[in-house]
Amino acid sequence: LTVGVLFGGCSTEHEVSLSSAAAVVNHLNRDKYDIVMIGITRDGRWYRFFGEADDIQRDRWSLNPSCVPVVLSPNRAMKGLVELIGTEFRFTPLDVVFPVLHGKNGEDGTMQGLLELAGIPFVGCDTLSSAACMDKAVAKTLVSAAGIAIPASVTLNAESSLEDMLAAEELGYPLYVKPARSGSSIGISKAYDRQELVDGIRNALLHDSKIVIEQHVVGVELGCAVLGDAIPEIGAIDEIELTGEFFDNVEKYSLNTATIHLPARISARKAEEVKEMALEIYRALGCAGFARVDLFLSADGKLLFNEVNTIPGFTAKSRYPNMMRAAGIEFPELLDRLIASADR
Ligand code: DAL
Ligand code: MG
Repeated sequence: LTVGVLFGGCSTEHEVSLSSAAAVVNHLNRDKYDIVMIGITRDGRWYRFFGEADDIQRDRWSLNPSCVPVVLSPNRAMKGLVELIGTEFRFTPLDVVFPVLHGKNGEDGTMQGLLELAGIPFVGCDTLSSAACMDKAVAKTLVSAAGIAIPASVTLNAESSLEDMLAAEELGYPLYVKPARSGSSIGISKAYDRQELVDGIRNALLHDSKIVIEQHVVGVELGCAVLGDAIPEIGAIDEIELTGEFFDNVEKYSLNTATIHLPARISARKAEEVKEMALEIYRALGCAGFARVDLFLSADGKLLFNEVNTIPGFTAKSRYPNMMRAAGIEFPELLDRLIASADR
C-alpha cells in the first residue's frame, strides 16, 4: 500500500505538523507501506521529499536537493502525485493519504475537499466535519443542538460594534477570547477586565475575522481520544492540571506549569460519563477516523464541551497517541487502524 504523508502547510501550526509527521513516518510499518512524504512549505509550495524523518522534525526537509515539485492530481483517472523532474513529469499513484497537518489549510476541510475531489481515500474526518470542528462557533452550535452543555459564549466579527463587544462582558470576567478557527491556542487570550478584553479582541482579529468570547469554566480540562467510525473505540482519558493562567501555546509544548495526568483523576463512573459524552460529540459533528474531544469538568461536577481536534497533535509524546497507548494500542497499530479506516 502506498501511503502519502502530508506535512507542514500554510498554517500557524506548521512546526507542530513537522513534529507530528516525523513521528508518523518513524512509526509506519515499512513492511506494509511504501511511504511517499509530501511537504508543503509555509507559503504553500508542494514538494515530494526523499530524505530522513529527522530532517522533517528539524525543519530542514525543504533544503534537501532531492525535493521535487509536485501537484496532487484532481483527475480520478490518475489518483496520485504528478512530480516535475527537470522538464519531465512522473506519476506516483497513492492508495491512501494521511494529512498530518494541523490548523488552517490542513485540518479545516480545505485539504479534505481536495482529497475528496481527487478520489483518494484519506485518514480522518471528511470536509464538512473537519470544517465544522475547526470553527469553534459552528462546532458549539452543532454540539449544543445535540443537547450537550457548552460554556456560554458570544461570536463576533470585525464588523461587530463596540456595544456588541462589550455585551460579552455580561458573561462575566475572566473571559477567553479566541479566534474562531485556530489551533494550539494561537491568538487566544484571557481577559480580566475591559481593557484586556478589547486588547484580546484586537489580537484575535489578527488571526481570524471571526472570534468567540467564552465564559471561563472553573474546573479542569479533560481529553478523550476517539478512534473509528460506526462503533468508535475510546482511549484513556487525560486531564490537564494548570498552575499557570491557561493552557496557552507555550505551555502546550513546554509543560512548564501544566501537568497532564493520564489517566485523569476522576472516578470510573465519571470516566464512563466522559466517554459517552465524547461519543455523542463525535457523532454530532460527523467525525470519522479519529479525533481528540476536549471537555471541561467544572468544579461542581458538570461536563461541558470545549472543542474537537480532528487532526490532534501526533508526536510520539502527544496526548492522542499517549491516550491510545494507555488503552493498549501502540503507535504502529494505531497507524495501521487509521490507514485501514481511510478506505470508506
Ligand atoms: N492543535 C493541536 C495540534 C492539538 O490539538 O493537538
Ligand atoms: Mg486545537
